[in-house]
Amino acid sequence: MATVLIKNLDKHIGEEVSVRGWLYNQRSSGKISFLIVRDGTGLVQGVLVKKDVGEELASLAGNLTQESSLIIRGVVREEPRSVGGYEILIAGLEIVSIAEEYPITHKEHGVDFLADRRHLWLRTPRQTAIIRVRSEIEQSIRDFFYENDFVLADAPIITPAACEGTTTLFELDYHGDKAFLSQSGQLYNEAAAMALGRIYCLGPTFRAEKSKTRRHLMEFWMIEAEMAYFDMDDNINLQEKMLHFVIRRVLERCEREMKTLERDVARLEKITLPFPRISYTEAVEILKKEGVDFVWGDDFGAPHETAISKYFDAPVFVHRYPATIKAFYMKPDPENPAVVLGADLLAPEGYGEIIGGGQRIDDFKLLEQRIAEHNLPQEAFAWYLDLRRYGSVPHSGFGLGIERTVAWLCGLDHIRETIPFPRMLHKMYP
Ligand code: 4AD
Ligand code: MG
Repeated sequence: MATVLIKNLDKHIGEEVSVRGWLYNQRSSGKISFLIVRDGTGLVQGVLVKKDVGEELASLAGNLTQESSLIIRGVVREEPRSVGGYEILIAGLEIVSIAEEYPITHKEHGVDFLADRRHLWLRTPRQTAIIRVRSEIEQSIRDFFYENDFVLADAPIITPAACEGTTTLFELDYHGDKAFLSQSGQLYNEAAAMALGRIYCLGPTFRAEKSKTRRHLMEFWMIEAEMAYFDMDDNINLQEKMLHFVIRRVLERCEREMKTLERDVARLEKITLPFPRISYTEAVEILKKEGVDFVWGDDFGAPHETAISKYFDAPVFVHRYPATIKAFYMKPDPENPAVVLGADLLAPEGYGEIIGGGQRIDDFKLLEQRIAEHNLPQEAFAWYLDLRRYGSVPHSGFGLGIERTVAWLCGLDHIRETIPFPRMLHKMYP
Protein backbone atom coordinates (compact mmCIF):
# COMPACT_ATOMS: atom_id res chain seq x y z
CA MET A 1 0.00 0.00 0.00
CA ALA A 2 1.34 3.40 -1.00
CA THR A 3 2.06 6.23 1.39
CA VAL A 4 0.91 9.32 -0.49
CA LEU A 5 0.98 13.07 -0.16
CA ILE A 6 -2.39 14.74 0.22
CA LYS A 7 -1.77 16.91 -2.82
CA ASN A 8 -1.49 13.75 -4.94
CA LEU A 9 -4.68 12.04 -3.72
CA ASP A 10 -6.37 12.72 -7.07
CA LYS A 11 -4.09 10.07 -8.60
CA HIS A 12 -5.22 7.39 -6.14
CA ILE A 13 -9.00 7.39 -6.29
CA GLY A 14 -10.40 3.99 -5.35
CA GLU A 15 -7.05 2.80 -3.95
CA GLU A 16 -6.15 2.09 -0.37
CA VAL A 17 -3.40 4.47 0.73
CA SER A 18 -1.88 5.78 3.90
CA VAL A 19 -1.35 9.43 4.78
CA ARG A 20 1.08 10.56 7.46
CA GLY A 21 0.38 13.86 9.11
CA TRP A 22 -1.19 15.77 11.96
CA LEU A 23 -4.74 16.28 13.13
CA TYR A 24 -5.81 19.72 12.00
CA ASN A 25 -9.40 19.60 13.17
CA GLN A 26 -12.16 17.12 13.93
CA ARG A 27 -15.85 16.84 14.41
CA SER A 28 -18.05 14.00 15.40
CA SER A 29 -21.70 13.15 14.95
CA GLY A 30 -22.04 10.17 17.28
CA LYS A 31 -21.62 7.33 14.81
CA ILE A 32 -19.19 9.04 12.48
CA SER A 33 -16.03 11.05 13.19
CA PHE A 34 -14.42 13.33 10.67
CA LEU A 35 -10.70 13.77 11.13
CA ILE A 36 -9.23 16.61 9.11
CA VAL A 37 -5.60 15.69 8.54
CA ARG A 38 -2.82 17.90 7.22
CA ASP A 39 0.53 16.73 5.93
CA GLY A 40 2.10 19.99 4.76
CA THR A 41 0.84 19.53 1.20
CA GLY A 42 -2.87 19.93 1.91
CA LEU A 43 -5.83 18.88 3.99
CA VAL A 44 -7.92 15.75 3.69
CA GLN A 45 -10.96 14.56 5.55
CA GLY A 46 -10.69 11.12 7.08
CA VAL A 47 -14.08 9.52 7.68
CA LEU A 48 -14.29 7.09 10.56
CA VAL A 49 -17.49 5.06 10.80
CA LYS A 50 -17.59 3.57 14.29
CA LYS A 51 -19.52 0.44 13.49
CA ASP A 52 -17.14 -0.41 10.63
CA VAL A 53 -13.85 0.06 12.48
CA GLY A 54 -14.87 -1.30 15.87
CA GLU A 55 -14.79 0.03 19.42
CA GLU A 56 -11.04 0.01 19.90
CA LEU A 57 -10.17 2.15 16.90
CA ALA A 58 -13.11 4.45 17.53
CA SER A 59 -11.99 5.14 21.09
CA LEU A 60 -8.42 5.70 19.88
CA ALA A 61 -9.75 8.42 17.62
CA GLY A 62 -11.68 9.87 20.53
CA ASN A 63 -8.41 10.64 22.31
CA LEU A 64 -6.96 12.68 19.49
CA THR A 65 -6.22 16.32 20.17
CA GLN A 66 -5.45 19.10 17.69
CA GLU A 67 -1.95 18.63 16.16
CA SER A 68 -1.60 15.06 17.37
CA SER A 69 0.51 13.21 14.83
CA LEU A 70 -1.10 10.24 13.14
CA ILE A 71 -1.11 7.90 10.18
CA ILE A 72 -4.42 7.03 8.57
CA ARG A 73 -5.07 4.25 6.12
CA GLY A 74 -8.06 3.79 3.88
CA VAL A 75 -9.62 4.02 0.43
CA VAL A 76 -9.64 7.39 -1.35
CA ARG A 77 -12.80 8.76 -2.87
CA GLU A 78 -13.85 11.99 -4.47
CA GLU A 79 -15.98 14.22 -2.28
CA PRO A 80 -16.40 17.72 -3.69
CA ARG A 81 -18.02 18.96 -0.47
CA SER A 82 -15.07 18.09 1.76
CA VAL A 83 -11.98 20.20 2.21
CA GLY A 84 -9.53 19.51 -0.61
CA GLY A 85 -12.14 17.58 -2.61
CA TYR A 86 -11.24 14.05 -1.42
CA GLU A 87 -11.98 11.79 1.51
CA ILE A 88 -10.34 8.76 2.99
CA LEU A 89 -12.60 6.12 4.46
CA ILE A 90 -10.53 5.19 7.50
CA ALA A 91 -9.75 1.50 7.91
CA GLY A 92 -6.67 1.91 10.08
CA LEU A 93 -5.32 4.55 12.39
CA GLU A 94 -1.94 4.78 14.07
CA ILE A 95 -1.32 7.48 16.65
CA VAL A 96 2.29 8.64 16.59
CA SER A 97 2.07 11.22 19.37
CA ILE A 98 -0.77 12.81 21.32
CA ALA A 99 -0.33 16.59 21.38
CA GLU A 100 -0.72 18.67 24.50
CA GLU A 101 -3.38 21.36 24.43
CA TYR A 102 -2.51 23.35 21.30
CA PRO A 103 -2.16 27.11 21.80
CA ILE A 104 -3.32 28.08 18.31
CA THR A 105 -6.96 27.14 18.00
CA HIS A 106 -9.40 27.66 15.13
CA LYS A 107 -10.63 30.96 16.51
CA GLU A 108 -9.06 34.31 15.56
CA HIS A 109 -5.77 35.20 17.26
CA GLY A 110 -3.99 38.55 17.33
CA VAL A 111 -0.91 38.85 15.17
CA ASP A 112 1.42 39.43 18.15
CA PHE A 113 0.15 36.24 19.74
CA LEU A 114 0.81 34.37 16.51
CA ALA A 115 4.22 35.99 15.90
CA ASP A 116 5.40 34.82 19.34
CA ARG A 117 4.41 31.32 18.28
CA ARG A 118 5.75 31.50 14.74
CA HIS A 119 7.14 27.96 15.04
CA LEU A 120 3.56 26.72 15.36
CA TRP A 121 1.83 29.43 13.32
CA LEU A 122 3.78 28.09 10.31
CA ARG A 123 1.59 24.99 10.34
CA THR A 124 -1.59 26.79 9.31
CA PRO A 125 -2.83 26.47 5.71
CA ARG A 126 -2.28 30.16 4.94
CA GLN A 127 1.31 30.15 6.16
CA THR A 128 2.20 26.92 4.38
CA ALA A 129 0.73 28.35 1.17
CA ILE A 130 2.96 31.42 1.47
CA ILE A 131 6.11 29.38 2.08
CA ARG A 132 5.26 27.17 -0.89
CA VAL A 133 4.94 30.23 -3.12
CA ARG A 134 8.23 31.53 -1.75
CA SER A 135 9.85 28.21 -2.58
CA GLU A 136 8.46 28.33 -6.13
CA ILE A 137 9.76 31.88 -6.58
CA GLU A 138 13.28 30.92 -5.51
CA GLN A 139 13.22 27.74 -7.60
CA SER A 140 11.99 29.56 -10.70
CA ILE A 141 14.70 32.19 -10.31
CA ARG A 142 17.36 29.49 -10.12
CA ASP A 143 15.86 27.78 -13.18
CA PHE A 144 15.79 31.06 -15.10
CA PHE A 145 19.44 31.76 -14.46
CA TYR A 146 20.45 28.18 -15.13
CA GLU A 147 18.69 28.27 -18.50
CA ASN A 148 20.27 31.61 -19.37
CA ASP A 149 23.93 30.65 -18.94
CA PHE A 150 24.45 32.20 -15.52
CA VAL A 151 26.77 30.67 -12.97
CA LEU A 152 25.83 30.54 -9.29
CA ALA A 153 28.64 32.26 -7.36
CA ASP A 154 27.72 32.52 -3.69
CA ALA A 155 28.88 35.72 -2.01
CA PRO A 156 30.30 35.83 1.53
CA ILE A 157 28.14 36.76 4.52
CA ILE A 158 30.98 38.06 6.70
CA THR A 159 32.50 41.13 5.06
CA PRO A 160 35.11 43.76 5.93
CA ALA A 161 33.32 46.68 4.22
CA ALA A 162 29.92 48.31 3.65
CA CYS A 163 28.13 48.06 0.30
CA GLU A 164 24.92 49.97 0.93
CA GLY A 165 25.88 52.78 3.30
CA THR A 166 27.34 52.65 6.77
CA THR A 167 24.19 53.41 8.78
CA THR A 168 22.61 49.95 8.60
CA LEU A 169 25.60 47.72 9.38
CA PHE A 170 25.48 44.84 11.81
CA GLU A 171 28.93 44.74 13.29
CA LEU A 172 30.69 41.69 14.63
CA ASP A 173 33.98 40.72 16.13
CA TYR A 174 36.07 38.65 13.72
CA HIS A 175 38.82 37.29 15.93
CA GLY A 176 39.67 40.80 17.07
CA ASP A 177 38.99 42.50 13.74
CA LYS A 178 35.89 44.47 12.93
CA ALA A 179 33.59 42.76 10.44
CA PHE A 180 30.03 43.21 9.21
CA LEU A 181 27.18 41.01 8.12
CA SER A 182 26.73 41.48 4.38
CA GLN A 183 24.21 44.10 3.22
CA SER A 184 24.55 42.91 -0.37
CA GLY A 185 26.72 40.49 -2.32
CA GLN A 186 27.15 43.00 -5.13
CA LEU A 187 30.81 43.92 -4.76
CA TYR A 188 31.81 40.25 -4.75
CA ASN A 189 29.43 39.62 -7.62
CA GLU A 190 31.33 42.19 -9.65
CA ALA A 191 34.55 40.27 -9.09
CA ALA A 192 32.84 36.99 -9.98
CA ALA A 193 31.35 38.52 -13.16
CA MET A 194 34.83 39.54 -14.30
CA ALA A 195 35.85 35.91 -13.81
CA LEU A 196 32.78 34.14 -15.22
CA GLY A 197 30.83 36.64 -17.33
CA ARG A 198 27.30 36.26 -15.97
CA ILE A 199 26.73 35.22 -12.41
CA TYR A 200 24.16 35.36 -9.62
CA CYS A 201 23.95 34.71 -5.93
CA LEU A 202 20.99 34.03 -3.69
CA GLY A 203 21.50 34.39 -0.01
CA PRO A 204 20.64 36.21 3.18
CA THR A 205 21.54 39.88 3.57
CA PHE A 206 21.40 41.98 6.69
CA ARG A 207 20.48 45.57 7.46
CA ALA A 208 20.15 47.15 10.86
CA GLU A 209 17.17 49.21 9.73
CA LYS A 210 15.96 51.52 12.46
CA SER A 211 12.48 51.76 11.02
CA LYS A 212 9.53 49.55 11.77
CA THR A 213 7.56 49.20 8.53
CA ARG A 214 5.65 46.50 6.66
CA ARG A 215 8.42 46.32 4.07
CA HIS A 216 11.60 46.06 6.13
CA LEU A 217 13.26 43.09 7.70
CA MET A 218 16.65 43.05 9.43
CA GLU A 219 17.52 39.82 7.62
CA PHE A 220 16.17 39.27 4.13
CA TRP A 221 17.07 37.16 1.13
CA MET A 222 18.24 38.74 -2.05
CA ILE A 223 18.84 37.36 -5.52
CA GLU A 224 21.65 39.38 -7.04
CA ALA A 225 22.90 39.10 -10.60
CA GLU A 226 25.92 40.71 -12.20
CA MET A 227 26.79 40.77 -15.89
CA ALA A 228 30.00 41.79 -17.65
CA TYR A 229 29.48 43.88 -20.80
CA PHE A 230 25.86 44.72 -19.86
CA ASP A 231 24.77 48.37 -19.98
CA MET A 232 21.77 49.81 -18.19
CA ASP A 233 19.25 48.79 -20.85
CA ASP A 234 20.60 45.24 -21.09
CA ASN A 235 20.25 45.09 -17.32
CA ILE A 236 16.62 46.23 -17.31
CA ASN A 237 15.71 43.91 -20.19
CA LEU A 238 17.09 40.96 -18.25
CA GLN A 239 15.27 41.90 -15.05
CA GLU A 240 11.87 42.12 -16.66
CA LYS A 241 12.39 38.85 -18.50
CA MET A 242 13.34 37.16 -15.23
CA LEU A 243 10.45 38.59 -13.25
CA HIS A 244 7.93 37.75 -15.95
CA PHE A 245 9.22 34.19 -15.94
CA VAL A 246 8.78 34.03 -12.17
CA ILE A 247 5.21 35.39 -12.31
CA ARG A 248 4.23 32.85 -14.98
CA ARG A 249 5.70 29.99 -12.96
CA VAL A 250 3.86 31.01 -9.82
CA LEU A 251 0.59 31.31 -11.73
CA GLU A 252 1.14 27.90 -13.32
CA ARG A 253 2.36 25.95 -10.33
CA CYS A 254 0.81 27.65 -7.30
CA GLU A 255 -2.84 27.75 -8.27
CA ARG A 256 -3.93 25.96 -5.10
CA GLU A 257 -1.86 28.27 -2.88
CA MET A 258 -3.20 31.40 -4.58
CA LYS A 259 -6.72 30.14 -3.88
CA THR A 260 -5.91 29.55 -0.22
CA LEU A 261 -4.53 33.10 -0.05
CA GLU A 262 -7.54 34.50 -1.91
CA ARG A 263 -5.11 36.31 -4.21
CA ASP A 264 -6.70 38.17 -7.12
CA VAL A 265 -4.55 36.46 -9.77
CA ALA A 266 -6.16 38.41 -12.62
CA ARG A 267 -3.92 41.32 -11.64
CA LEU A 268 -0.85 39.14 -12.11
CA GLU A 269 -2.14 37.44 -15.24
CA LYS A 270 -2.46 40.66 -17.17
CA ILE A 271 1.18 41.66 -16.64
CA THR A 272 2.96 41.52 -20.00
CA LEU A 273 6.34 42.55 -21.39
CA PRO A 274 7.82 45.09 -21.66
CA PHE A 275 7.27 46.79 -18.29
CA PRO A 276 6.87 50.58 -18.37
CA ARG A 277 10.02 52.68 -17.86
CA ILE A 278 10.11 56.25 -16.62
CA SER A 279 12.90 58.49 -15.43
CA TYR A 280 13.12 59.76 -11.86
CA THR A 281 12.33 63.22 -13.26
CA GLU A 282 9.15 61.89 -14.90
CA ALA A 283 8.22 60.18 -11.64
CA VAL A 284 8.56 63.51 -9.85
CA GLU A 285 6.17 65.01 -12.44
CA ILE A 286 3.63 62.31 -11.58
CA LEU A 287 3.90 63.18 -7.89
CA LYS A 288 3.39 66.85 -8.64
CA LYS A 289 0.32 66.04 -10.74
CA GLU A 290 -0.97 64.07 -7.76
CA GLY A 291 -0.52 67.12 -5.57
CA VAL A 292 2.25 65.51 -3.52
CA ASP A 293 4.73 67.93 -1.99
CA PHE A 294 8.07 66.72 -3.36
CA VAL A 295 11.37 68.35 -4.31
CA TRP A 296 13.58 67.04 -7.15
CA GLY A 297 16.62 65.52 -5.47
CA ASP A 298 14.82 63.93 -2.53
CA ASP A 299 14.53 60.17 -2.20
CA PHE A 300 11.16 58.44 -2.55
CA GLY A 301 9.50 57.10 0.57
CA ALA A 302 6.86 54.38 0.65
CA PRO A 303 3.93 56.78 -0.01
CA HIS A 304 5.73 58.24 -3.05
CA GLU A 305 6.44 54.81 -4.48
CA THR A 306 2.82 53.85 -4.01
CA ALA A 307 1.59 57.02 -5.74
CA ILE A 308 3.91 56.38 -8.71
CA SER A 309 3.11 52.68 -9.05
CA LYS A 310 -0.64 53.40 -8.99
CA TYR A 311 -0.18 54.89 -12.45
CA PHE A 312 0.67 51.50 -13.89
CA ASP A 313 -0.82 48.00 -13.92
CA ALA A 314 2.58 46.38 -14.31
CA PRO A 315 5.81 46.83 -12.35
CA VAL A 316 7.47 50.08 -13.41
CA PHE A 317 11.17 50.85 -13.79
CA VAL A 318 12.24 54.24 -12.47
CA HIS A 319 15.68 55.10 -13.84
CA ARG A 320 18.26 57.90 -13.64
CA TYR A 321 17.98 58.92 -10.00
CA PRO A 322 20.00 61.87 -8.70
CA ALA A 323 23.54 60.71 -7.95
CA THR A 324 23.35 62.22 -4.46
CA ILE A 325 20.73 59.74 -3.21
CA LYS A 326 22.30 56.60 -4.68
CA ALA A 327 25.21 54.37 -3.72
CA PHE A 328 28.85 55.24 -4.40
CA TYR A 329 29.32 52.66 -7.16
CA MET A 330 26.61 53.91 -9.54
CA LYS A 331 27.80 55.09 -12.95
CA PRO A 332 26.86 58.68 -13.82
CA ASP A 333 24.85 59.19 -17.00
CA PRO A 334 27.35 60.56 -19.58
CA GLU A 335 24.57 62.80 -20.92
CA ASN A 336 23.78 64.26 -17.50
CA PRO A 337 26.22 63.39 -14.71
CA ALA A 338 23.79 64.69 -12.06
CA VAL A 339 21.87 61.43 -12.48
CA VAL A 340 23.06 57.81 -12.46
CA LEU A 341 22.42 54.84 -14.74
CA GLY A 342 20.56 52.99 -12.03
CA ALA A 343 16.96 51.80 -12.00
CA ASP A 344 14.60 50.60 -9.29
CA LEU A 345 11.63 48.42 -10.06
CA LEU A 346 8.44 49.37 -8.24
CA ALA A 347 5.83 46.63 -7.88
CA PRO A 348 2.17 47.40 -8.58
CA GLU A 349 -0.58 47.62 -5.95
CA GLY A 350 1.58 49.69 -3.61
CA TYR A 351 4.18 47.01 -2.80
CA GLY A 352 7.05 49.42 -3.42
CA GLU A 353 10.59 48.81 -4.59
CA ILE A 354 11.38 45.16 -5.23
CA ILE A 355 14.55 45.56 -7.32
CA GLY A 356 17.47 47.95 -7.02
CA GLY A 357 20.10 47.85 -9.71
CA GLY A 358 22.21 49.68 -12.23
CA GLN A 359 25.36 50.08 -14.23
CA ARG A 360 28.55 50.31 -12.14
CA ILE A 361 31.39 52.78 -12.39
CA ASP A 362 34.08 51.11 -14.51
CA ASP A 363 36.61 53.97 -14.45
CA PHE A 364 39.36 53.58 -11.83
CA LYS A 365 39.87 57.28 -11.06
CA LEU A 366 36.18 58.07 -10.68
CA LEU A 367 35.56 55.08 -8.43
CA GLU A 368 38.54 55.97 -6.25
CA GLN A 369 37.15 59.49 -5.95
CA ARG A 370 33.67 58.25 -5.01
CA ILE A 371 35.04 55.95 -2.31
CA ALA A 372 36.85 58.96 -0.82
CA GLU A 373 33.77 61.23 -1.09
CA HIS A 374 31.70 58.65 0.79
CA ASN A 375 34.38 58.40 3.50
CA LEU A 376 34.75 54.69 2.90
CA PRO A 377 38.00 53.03 4.06
CA GLN A 378 40.37 52.84 1.06
CA GLU A 379 42.13 49.67 2.30
CA ALA A 380 38.92 47.68 2.52
CA PHE A 381 38.12 48.60 -1.08
CA ALA A 382 41.57 48.02 -2.56
CA TRP A 383 40.52 44.68 -4.04
CA TYR A 384 37.36 46.23 -5.46
CA LEU A 385 39.41 48.91 -7.19
CA ASP A 386 41.61 46.16 -8.65
CA LEU A 387 38.62 45.15 -10.78
CA ARG A 388 39.03 48.51 -12.57
CA ARG A 389 42.80 48.11 -12.83
CA TYR A 390 42.82 44.75 -14.58
CA GLY A 391 40.59 44.56 -17.63
CA SER A 392 37.75 46.83 -16.57
CA VAL A 393 34.58 46.57 -18.69
CA PRO A 394 31.13 48.15 -18.59
CA HIS A 395 29.01 45.97 -16.30
CA SER A 396 25.68 46.02 -14.55
CA GLY A 397 23.66 44.10 -12.03
CA PHE A 398 20.71 44.14 -9.71
CA GLY A 399 19.25 42.77 -6.50
CA LEU A 400 15.68 41.55 -6.04
CA GLY A 401 14.28 41.27 -2.53
CA ILE A 402 12.68 37.85 -2.16
CA GLU A 403 10.37 38.82 0.71
CA ARG A 404 8.92 41.88 -0.99
CA THR A 405 8.34 39.80 -4.11
CA VAL A 406 6.57 37.14 -2.04
CA ALA A 407 4.44 39.82 -0.34
CA TRP A 408 3.38 41.22 -3.69
CA LEU A 409 2.72 37.93 -5.51
CA CYS A 410 0.79 36.55 -2.53
CA GLY A 411 -1.01 39.85 -1.91
CA LEU A 412 0.08 40.13 1.75
CA ASP A 413 -0.25 43.21 3.94
CA HIS A 414 2.97 42.68 5.84
CA ILE A 415 6.43 41.29 5.12
CA ARG A 416 6.50 39.33 8.40
CA GLU A 417 4.60 36.43 6.80
CA THR A 418 6.92 36.06 3.79
CA ILE A 419 9.77 34.20 5.48
CA PRO A 420 9.58 31.26 7.89
CA PHE A 421 11.24 33.13 10.76
CA PRO A 422 11.26 36.93 10.28
CA ARG A 423 13.82 39.15 11.97
CA MET A 424 12.26 42.47 12.77
CA LEU A 425 13.12 45.53 14.79
CA HIS A 426 13.35 44.44 18.46
CA LYS A 427 11.98 41.02 17.62
CA MET A 428 13.94 37.84 17.00
CA TYR A 429 12.02 35.21 18.95
CA PRO A 430 11.48 32.43 18.04
O1 4AD B 1 18.09 48.58 -3.37
P1 4AD B 1 19.03 47.75 -2.57
O2 4AD B 1 19.59 48.32 -1.35
O3 4AD B 1 20.16 47.33 -3.61
C1 4AD B 1 21.30 46.66 -3.32
O4 4AD B 1 21.58 46.16 -2.26
C2 4AD B 1 22.20 46.44 -4.50
N1 4AD B 1 23.57 46.32 -4.03
C3 4AD B 1 21.75 45.21 -5.25
C4 4AD B 1 22.59 44.92 -6.45
O5 4AD B 1 22.60 45.73 -7.35
N2 4AD B 1 23.25 43.81 -6.47
O6 4AD B 1 18.30 46.38 -2.20
C5 4AD B 1 17.77 45.56 -3.22
C6 4AD B 1 16.40 45.04 -2.85
C7 4AD B 1 15.35 46.13 -2.65
O7 4AD B 1 14.82 46.55 -3.87
C8 4AD B 1 14.34 45.42 -1.78
O8 4AD B 1 13.52 44.57 -2.58
C9 4AD B 1 15.20 44.54 -0.93
O9 4AD B 1 16.44 44.39 -1.58
N3 4AD B 1 15.43 45.14 0.41
C10 4AD B 1 14.81 44.74 1.53
N4 4AD B 1 13.87 43.80 1.75
C11 4AD B 1 13.44 43.62 3.01
N5 4AD B 1 13.90 44.31 4.08
C12 4AD B 1 14.85 45.26 3.90
N6 4AD B 1 15.32 45.90 4.97
C13 4AD B 1 15.33 45.51 2.59
N7 4AD B 1 16.26 46.35 2.07
C14 4AD B 1 16.29 46.11 0.74
MG1 MG C 1 17.13 50.37 -3.26
